[in-house]
Amino acid sequence: MSERNIMLECINCGKKYPSDTVIYRCSSCGGLLDIILDYDSIKESISWAKFKQRPLSVWRYYELLPVNPKLKVSLLEGGTPLYHAKRLGELIGLNNLYVKFEGANPTGSFKDRGMTVGVTKVVELGIKSVGCASTGNTSASLAAYAAKAGLACFVLLPAGKVAMGKLSQAMLHGAHVIALKGNFDQALSIVEQICNEEKIYLLNSLNPWRLEGQKTTAYEIVDQLGKVPDRVVLPVGNCGNISAIWKGFKELETIYLTDTLPKMTGIQAKGASPIVNMIKRNLKLIQFTDNPETIATAIRIGRPVNWPKAVKAIRESNGTAESVSDSEIITMQKMLAKLEGIGVEPASAASLAGVQKLLEEGVIERDETIVSITTGHMLKDPQEAIEIAEPVNEFESDIIKIKYFIESKLAEVVKAVR
Ligand code: F0G
Repeated sequence: MSERNIMLECINCGKKYPSDTVIYRCSSCGGLLDIILDYDSIKESISWAKFKQRPLSVWRYYELLPVNPKLKVSLLEGGTPLYHAKRLGELIGLNNLYVKFEGANPTGSFKDRGMTVGVTKVVELGIKSVGCASTGNTSASLAAYAAKAGLACFVLLPAGKVAMGKLSQAMLHGAHVIALKGNFDQALSIVEQICNEEKIYLLNSLNPWRLEGQKTTAYEIVDQLGKVPDRVVLPVGNCGNISAIWKGFKELETIYLTDTLPKMTGIQAKGASPIVNMIKRNLKLIQFTDNPETIATAIRIGRPVNWPKAVKAIRESNGTAESVSDSEIITMQKMLAKLEGIGVEPASAASLAGVQKLLEEGVIERDETIVSITTGHMLKDPQEAIEIAEPVNEFESDIIKIKYFIESKLAEVVKAVR
């Protein structure tokens, strides 16, 4: 055991590994790995009052993070807004709807929470290069944190299926970008093999150190809301985030900082919904989707590696899973932007589209306190935003025509108010 009693453990067979082992799956059974912390000793040293003396951020909770905070590679991640979505809530029939806007992270997605911890682990291990497969956001985030730490970075992306904002980030931050003529699932399988053979450290969500950073979303929600919500709803792709956030909530309960747990609710796009299928049909084993397709390219994933952790999170918490169509995603993306001023990418809108659907189905109750996590900023996919928004109104330099246009629009506003 290391100084702080931190261990890696297989969630399947229980085999343990020292914390400096470079490994992504159990060497005995191939199972997923988790990080084990010594909660008895952590419990002694923390309290909400102590946390609240530090800035709201991932590192506010460093006692619960399994890396050395003195070595931290940080771009000031976390501390994202929790908005009370009053107007949207009123429209769909919810009084206590909150939006945790993860698009406010340094590279515009929740991935930064994981990368600050994951890349700090890389520095601890003394490894000089990192890699990932990505639908876009992971690569953007890893490229930025690798730049900050001075590491070489390799990213494998599905060619032609990564939104422009994300691709431009990976490129500008200096990652070596490999566009694969295939999908994300194939890219991940290749990069995992390469990382096992070369001296490149894998930072997909298969890596449990990265998920440790992402669990801080749970801590922040309780910190900001002042209580545990009844339900947390989020988009699900490779299944890392829902697993990490569930772990965060369970830890708070274990160390007596909270005494309830939320229902974890995962939303997928209709064309890429193996988890929803599994939950709804109560299957024991997952049936993968071979050709995933959706406008929400971030979650265009058919073979989610972390499915056992995600399904456990949903079942243990009495949560559920639901799928939404591309048109439901787009409608919600526009509503959120116009009613709340929150601009999100399509995958993130899936989360709220799922809330609305579950409310209509009677699964969600009207008085529930719900936190919907919107995972990425709208500027990640500006092309899609332009395609779904009202077209731009083009004019010659003619003030009369412009005034006429403005007056006709103002008349519409007056009509709508009446
Ligand atoms: N939302 C966004 C905006 C994402 O980018 C992702 C995943 C998810 C939700 C799903 O999270 O995989 O933990 O279940 N994006 C990964 C990537 C796959 O490569 O950027 P998950």
